[in-house]
Amino acid sequence: MSYLKLNLGCGNNKCDGFLNVDKFGEPDIKWDLEKFPWPWEDNSVDEIRIIHVLEHLGKDTETYFNIFKEIYRISVDKALLYIVVPHFRHDFFFNDPTHIRVVTPESLRLFSKTFNYECEKKRFSNSPLGLYLNIDIELIGTNIKPGEAWFKMYPNKEVNVSLLLEKSKIYNNLIEEFQMKLKIKK
Ligand SMILES: C[S@@+](CC[C@H](N)C(=O)[O-])C[C@H]1O[C@@H](n2cnc3c(N)ncnc32)[C@H](O)[C@@H]1O
Repeated sequence: MSYLKLNLGCGNNKCDGFLNVDKFGEPDIKWDLEKFPWPWEDNSVDEIRIIHVLEHLGKDTETYFNIFKEIYRISVDKALLYIVVPHFRHDFFFNDPTHIRVVTPESLRLFSKTFNYECEKKRFSNSPLGLYLNIDIELIGTNIKPGEAWFKMYPNKEVNVSLLLEKSKIYNNLIEEFQMKLKIKK
C-alpha cells in the first residue's frame, strides 16, 4: 500500500516524492492550513514535513490544536513528522512579523500520551494535550542547529549541546533552529 507524503507550507522548497502544499505561490496544491478539515482522508499519509511553517500558524490556540488534530487524523500509525522551527531567542524569530507562535521541543512533547501519563504520575501541572485532544504524537529526536553567535563565542570548540542549551537560556542568537522528528502513534 502506498501512502502520501506531504510537504506543508512548501514555499519555494518543493520536495521530490512529496505533495507540496502552500497557501501562496505555485505549489502542487493550494491550501490554507488554517482551514479545516484538510483535504486528505483519514490514515492516508505516512510522512509530513513542515519546515519553517508552524511558527506562522495558529495564532489562536484552537486553530493550532486543529492543525495537530488534522496531522494525526490523516496520518497512518508510525507516520513520520519532521518539524523545523526557528529558536524563540534568535533574531530570525523576531524579524518576521508573520511569526506568531513559539514552538519548542518541550511544547511538542505535550502531544504524547505516554509523556502525559508520566507527568500525571509525578503530579506535574503541564497541559496533557495528547489526552485533551485524543491524539498521540511522540517526539523521537531533536537536532539543534547552533547560530553564528555560538561559533563566535566558542570559535575553537566542538559543539557541546548541553553547554549550548544552558547558555541559550541566558543569551540570544546561540541556537538558530530546532529540527525535530516525531512519530504518530495510533
Ligand atoms: C518561511 S516559509 C518556509 C517555506 C519552506 N517550507 C522552506 O523551508 O523554505 C513559510 C511558508 O508557509 C506558508 N504558509 C504560511 N501560512 C500558511 C497557511 N495558513 N497555509 C498554508 N501555507 C502557509 C507560506 O506561504 C510560506 O511559503
